[in-house]
Parts: sequence; C-alpha cells; structure tokens
Amino acid sequence: MTDSTHDSAATGTTFILGHRPVHRLGYGAMQLAGKGVFGPPRDRDAALAVLRAAVEAGVDHIDTSDFYGPHITNQLIREALHPYRDDLVIVTKVGASRGADASWNPALSAEQLRRAVHDNLRNLGLERLEVVNLRAMFDVHGPAEGSLEAPLTALAELQQQGLVRHIGLSNVTARQIADGQRICRIACVQNQYNLAHRSDDDLIDELARQGLPFVPFFPLGGFSPLQSAQLSEVARQLDATPLQVALAWLLRRSPNILLIPGTSSVEHLQENMAAGRLHLPQAAMDTLEQVGSGR
Ligand SMILES: NC(=O)c1ccc[n+]([C@@H]2O[C@H](COP(=O)([O-])OP(=O)(O)OC[C@H]3O[C@@H](n4cnc5c(N)ncnc54)[C@H](OP(=O)(O)O)[C@@H]3O)[C@@H](O)[C@H]2O)c1
Repeated sequence: MTDSTHDSAATGTTFILGHRPVHRLGYGAMQLAGKGVFGPPRDRDAALAVLRAAVEAGVDHIDTSDFYGPHITNQLIREALHPYRDDLVIVTKVGASRGADASWNPALSAEQLRRAVHDNLRNLGLERLEVVNLRAMFDVHGPAEGSLEAPLTALAELQQQGLVRHIGLSNVTARQIADGQRICRIACVQNQYNLAHRSDDDLIDELARQGLPFVPFFPLGGFSPLQSAQLSEVARQLDATPLQVALAWLLRRSPNILLIPGTSSVEHLQENMAAGRLHLPQAAMDTLEQVGSGR
C-alpha cells in the first residue's frame, strides 16, 4: 500500500461540505509553517511542492488558517495554487491569534473576527471565503462549555455581508453546536478525533444523522503520530503503514467524516492519499476497536 500513484480515485467517495461535494480525503496545511506552526517553513519550495502535489493527487478540500505562521500558510497556498481550481474548497478558521512568543490566544471579539476574515481574504487572494470555522478557545486543548453567541453572531454578520459563504465550528461541544444552529446554519464541525481519541463518537453519529460533515483534526495523532500494537499488527497484515490504517479506519468509521491529514512531505502525502484505496475487513475493524477502548 505504499505505492504513490497519482490517482484521483484514491480520494474515494465524496461528501457535501457547504454545498459542494468534496473528496473525503483532503489535506491540512498547518504543517507547512515553521516549527511550532510559527514562522516560515525550513524549505519554502518543498512546502509549495506539497500543496501542488495534493491538488494533483485529487485533493479538493484544503484546511488552513491565517494564524498558521501567522499568515505564512495562507500565503503559501496562494503562491502554489492561485488562481484556484473551481472545485477547490479552502476552509479556514478564525478565533485565535498568535503572540510574539508563538502562543495561541483567543481572538473572538467582533473586531478581531472582522480583521481575521479580511486577513484570510487578502492572504488567500479571495473575495469570499468558502467555509470559515469559528474556533472556540474556552480551553485551547479541547472543547469546553461557554457561550459562542457573541462571536457567532459577529461571524454571521460577515456572512450576511457576503465575505463568508459557510460557517463551521471547531473545538466545540454538542451543546455549543445546538446553540449555534439557532443563530446560523452550521456547515461542518472540526474537533480532535482519531483512533485513540474518541470523545466525539456520539457527536459524529448525531452529525451523520443531520447530514453534516465532521472533520477530525489530528487524524494521525497530531504532533506525535499514533502508535499502537494493534495498529501495527493490522498494518502488517494488510501490507500498509500504521498511519494509512489510521486514515482508512476514519474513512470507514462514518461516511460524514472528511479527512485533512497534515504533512510537510510529498512522500507522506502520497502515502496518505493511498489510504483511500485501503479496504479494512471487519476483523481489522474489530482489532482496531481496542485502540480506543481506554477512552
Ligand atoms: N481546528 C483546530 O483547532 C485544529 C488543530 C490542529 C490542526 N488542525 C487542522 O488539522 C490538520 C491535521 O492536523 P495535523 O496536521 O496537526 O495532525 P495530523 O494530520 O494528525 O498529523 C500530522 C503529523 O503526522 C506526520 N505525518 C503525516 N503523514 C505521515 C506519514 N504518511 N508518515 C509519517 N508521518 C506522517 C506529519 O509529519 P510530516 O510533516 O513529517 O509528514 C505531522 O507530524 C492540520 O493540518 C490543520 O489544518 C485544526
């Protein structure tokens, strides 16, 4: 399964994001910025090559934010891919800003959100953002209750001005999603989820019932990629890599899951795309179920 064929079929079936169908295997651009998602990449040409290879391989959904770098990731996307293909959906997020020390800070006032939307428009070279996720920051590391009414209302106003087409939520609880749906249409949810981190199992099923996409961040485990005996064993049996199995598991977990694995390497990108062709038999699913059993 480590072949690197450029084949759009590798992206598997599609699911509606906003109002457009996208392949379930997309790409997350966060890894393209410098160390700690701060400053420029070590090798700018290599970063541009990853973005071009992603689109060539059939990726039509790229996840980003203007706070990656900051600004750097969006500027790389623009340099590599602008003018964009009509079918490319770029999803960005607002709600945080970076300190000079690389810290991640809440930036959820109406003025900060307005500025963030304009920063994204300028750095991506767009007149309207297709999907903007509002990133909750009550706890930077995971969903925590708190009202999103004020920032969501401010973002909905920017949507009414035509600067944003669809609004999603990130790092949120089921209650925040339900409350948000009373303010505006929520197009997608982006929370941490992977084979070993399964707090959102029920939420994924609920969103599937509503026909809404769930986009797991850290699908491979994030900065410390997943490792487990069961994952390695299944990978060995299927002649795949453990991370390919982790992606194939997510694809099979629920049809409303859209993947945005992040990488700064063309080789890893191609391995990740090939996961779309990996079929996991039920026995493998049963074995993998044990990975998250400590949740
Ligand atoms: N909403 C939010 O709060 C939030 C938070 C975090 C991330 N995100 C989004 O989610 C996307 C995905 O998350 P992520 O990139 O942080 O984590 P991830 O996709 O779980 O994993 C990325 C890590 O896996 C490595 N990797 C990727 N493919 C590999 C392969 N085939 N073999 C070996 N290692 C591989 C990468 O290193 P290499 O570069 O060496 O391949 C990197 O260290 C991000 O790009 C970002 O767009 C959103």
